Amino acid sequence: MRKNLFIALEGIDGSGKSTQTKLLAERMTQQGHKVYTTCEPTARPIGAMIRSILKGEMKADDRTIAGLFVADRLDHLLNEEDGIVKKLEDGFTVITDRYYFSSYAYHGTHMDMDWVIAANAMSADILRPDINIFIDVPPEISMQRVSRNRQNVELYETLENLVQVRAKFMEAFEKLKDVENIVSINGDQEMDAIANAIWQQVEQLQEKKV
Ligand code: ADP
Ligand code: TYD
Repeated sequence: MRKNLFIALEGIDGSGKSTQTKLLAERMTQQGHKVYTTCEPTARPIGAMIRSILKGEMKADDRTIAGLFVADRLDHLLNEEDGIVKKLEDGFTVITDRYYFSSYAYHGTHMDMDWVIAANAMSADILRPDINIFIDVPPEISMQRVSRNRQNVELYETLENLVQVRAKFMEAFEKLKDVENIVSINGDQEMDAIANAIWQQVEQLQEKKV
């Protein structure tokens, strides 16, 4: 059994995923792990196309966007340069800021969630995270954080949408609770308190893997 972990951080926009990805990576590195951090949408060509749609530079139907995320995720896993599968084989613990639960939640608001889950089945077959960590922040608070720090609001960053997305995350967790390892962390606390709560979960997982 592989000892290095594959960890997915999930949450609505502005929930603190990238902050916590960085803090967790630092802590694991201090412990002697080889850590690789990554995110979705990726910085590769399909991810770049998605980013330009999110910024409003290009228009696309929500179903097209959902399809692009499916392709971006497979490229994220399988590309031979820095794909997640390769990184895990090379002994890295991989922490990703968003994975397929983001698709279930964000696209499940526009179309049948079961379609989105089925469309991502290949990614789930290739790699299920050892743990999905949901950083739970009230949408009102995450919106305040997002608007404080961004000049331009992206496609899905409205309070109304994030309220729906949070509800869809909950629906997806309930649907998949028997096949996925999911933990929810209160994200409405100081950064260090959240980091400690995440660390506790990761330590438990490491003990199980030894
Ligand atoms: P995400 O990656 O989920 O969009 P970020 O980590 O980029 O979230 O955080 C969004 C903003 O909120 C950043 O400016 C960050 O510094 C701030 N932030 C992150 N965590 C907290 C927290 N626990 N309390 C207050 N502000 C936070
Ligand atoms: P991200 O850069 O993580 O935004 P933030 O830092 O604000 O959380 O993600 C960009 C957007 O992409 C975000 O609004 C969520 C959306 N998204 C999807 O719609 N589907 C997906 O499958 C993923 C991974 C992200």
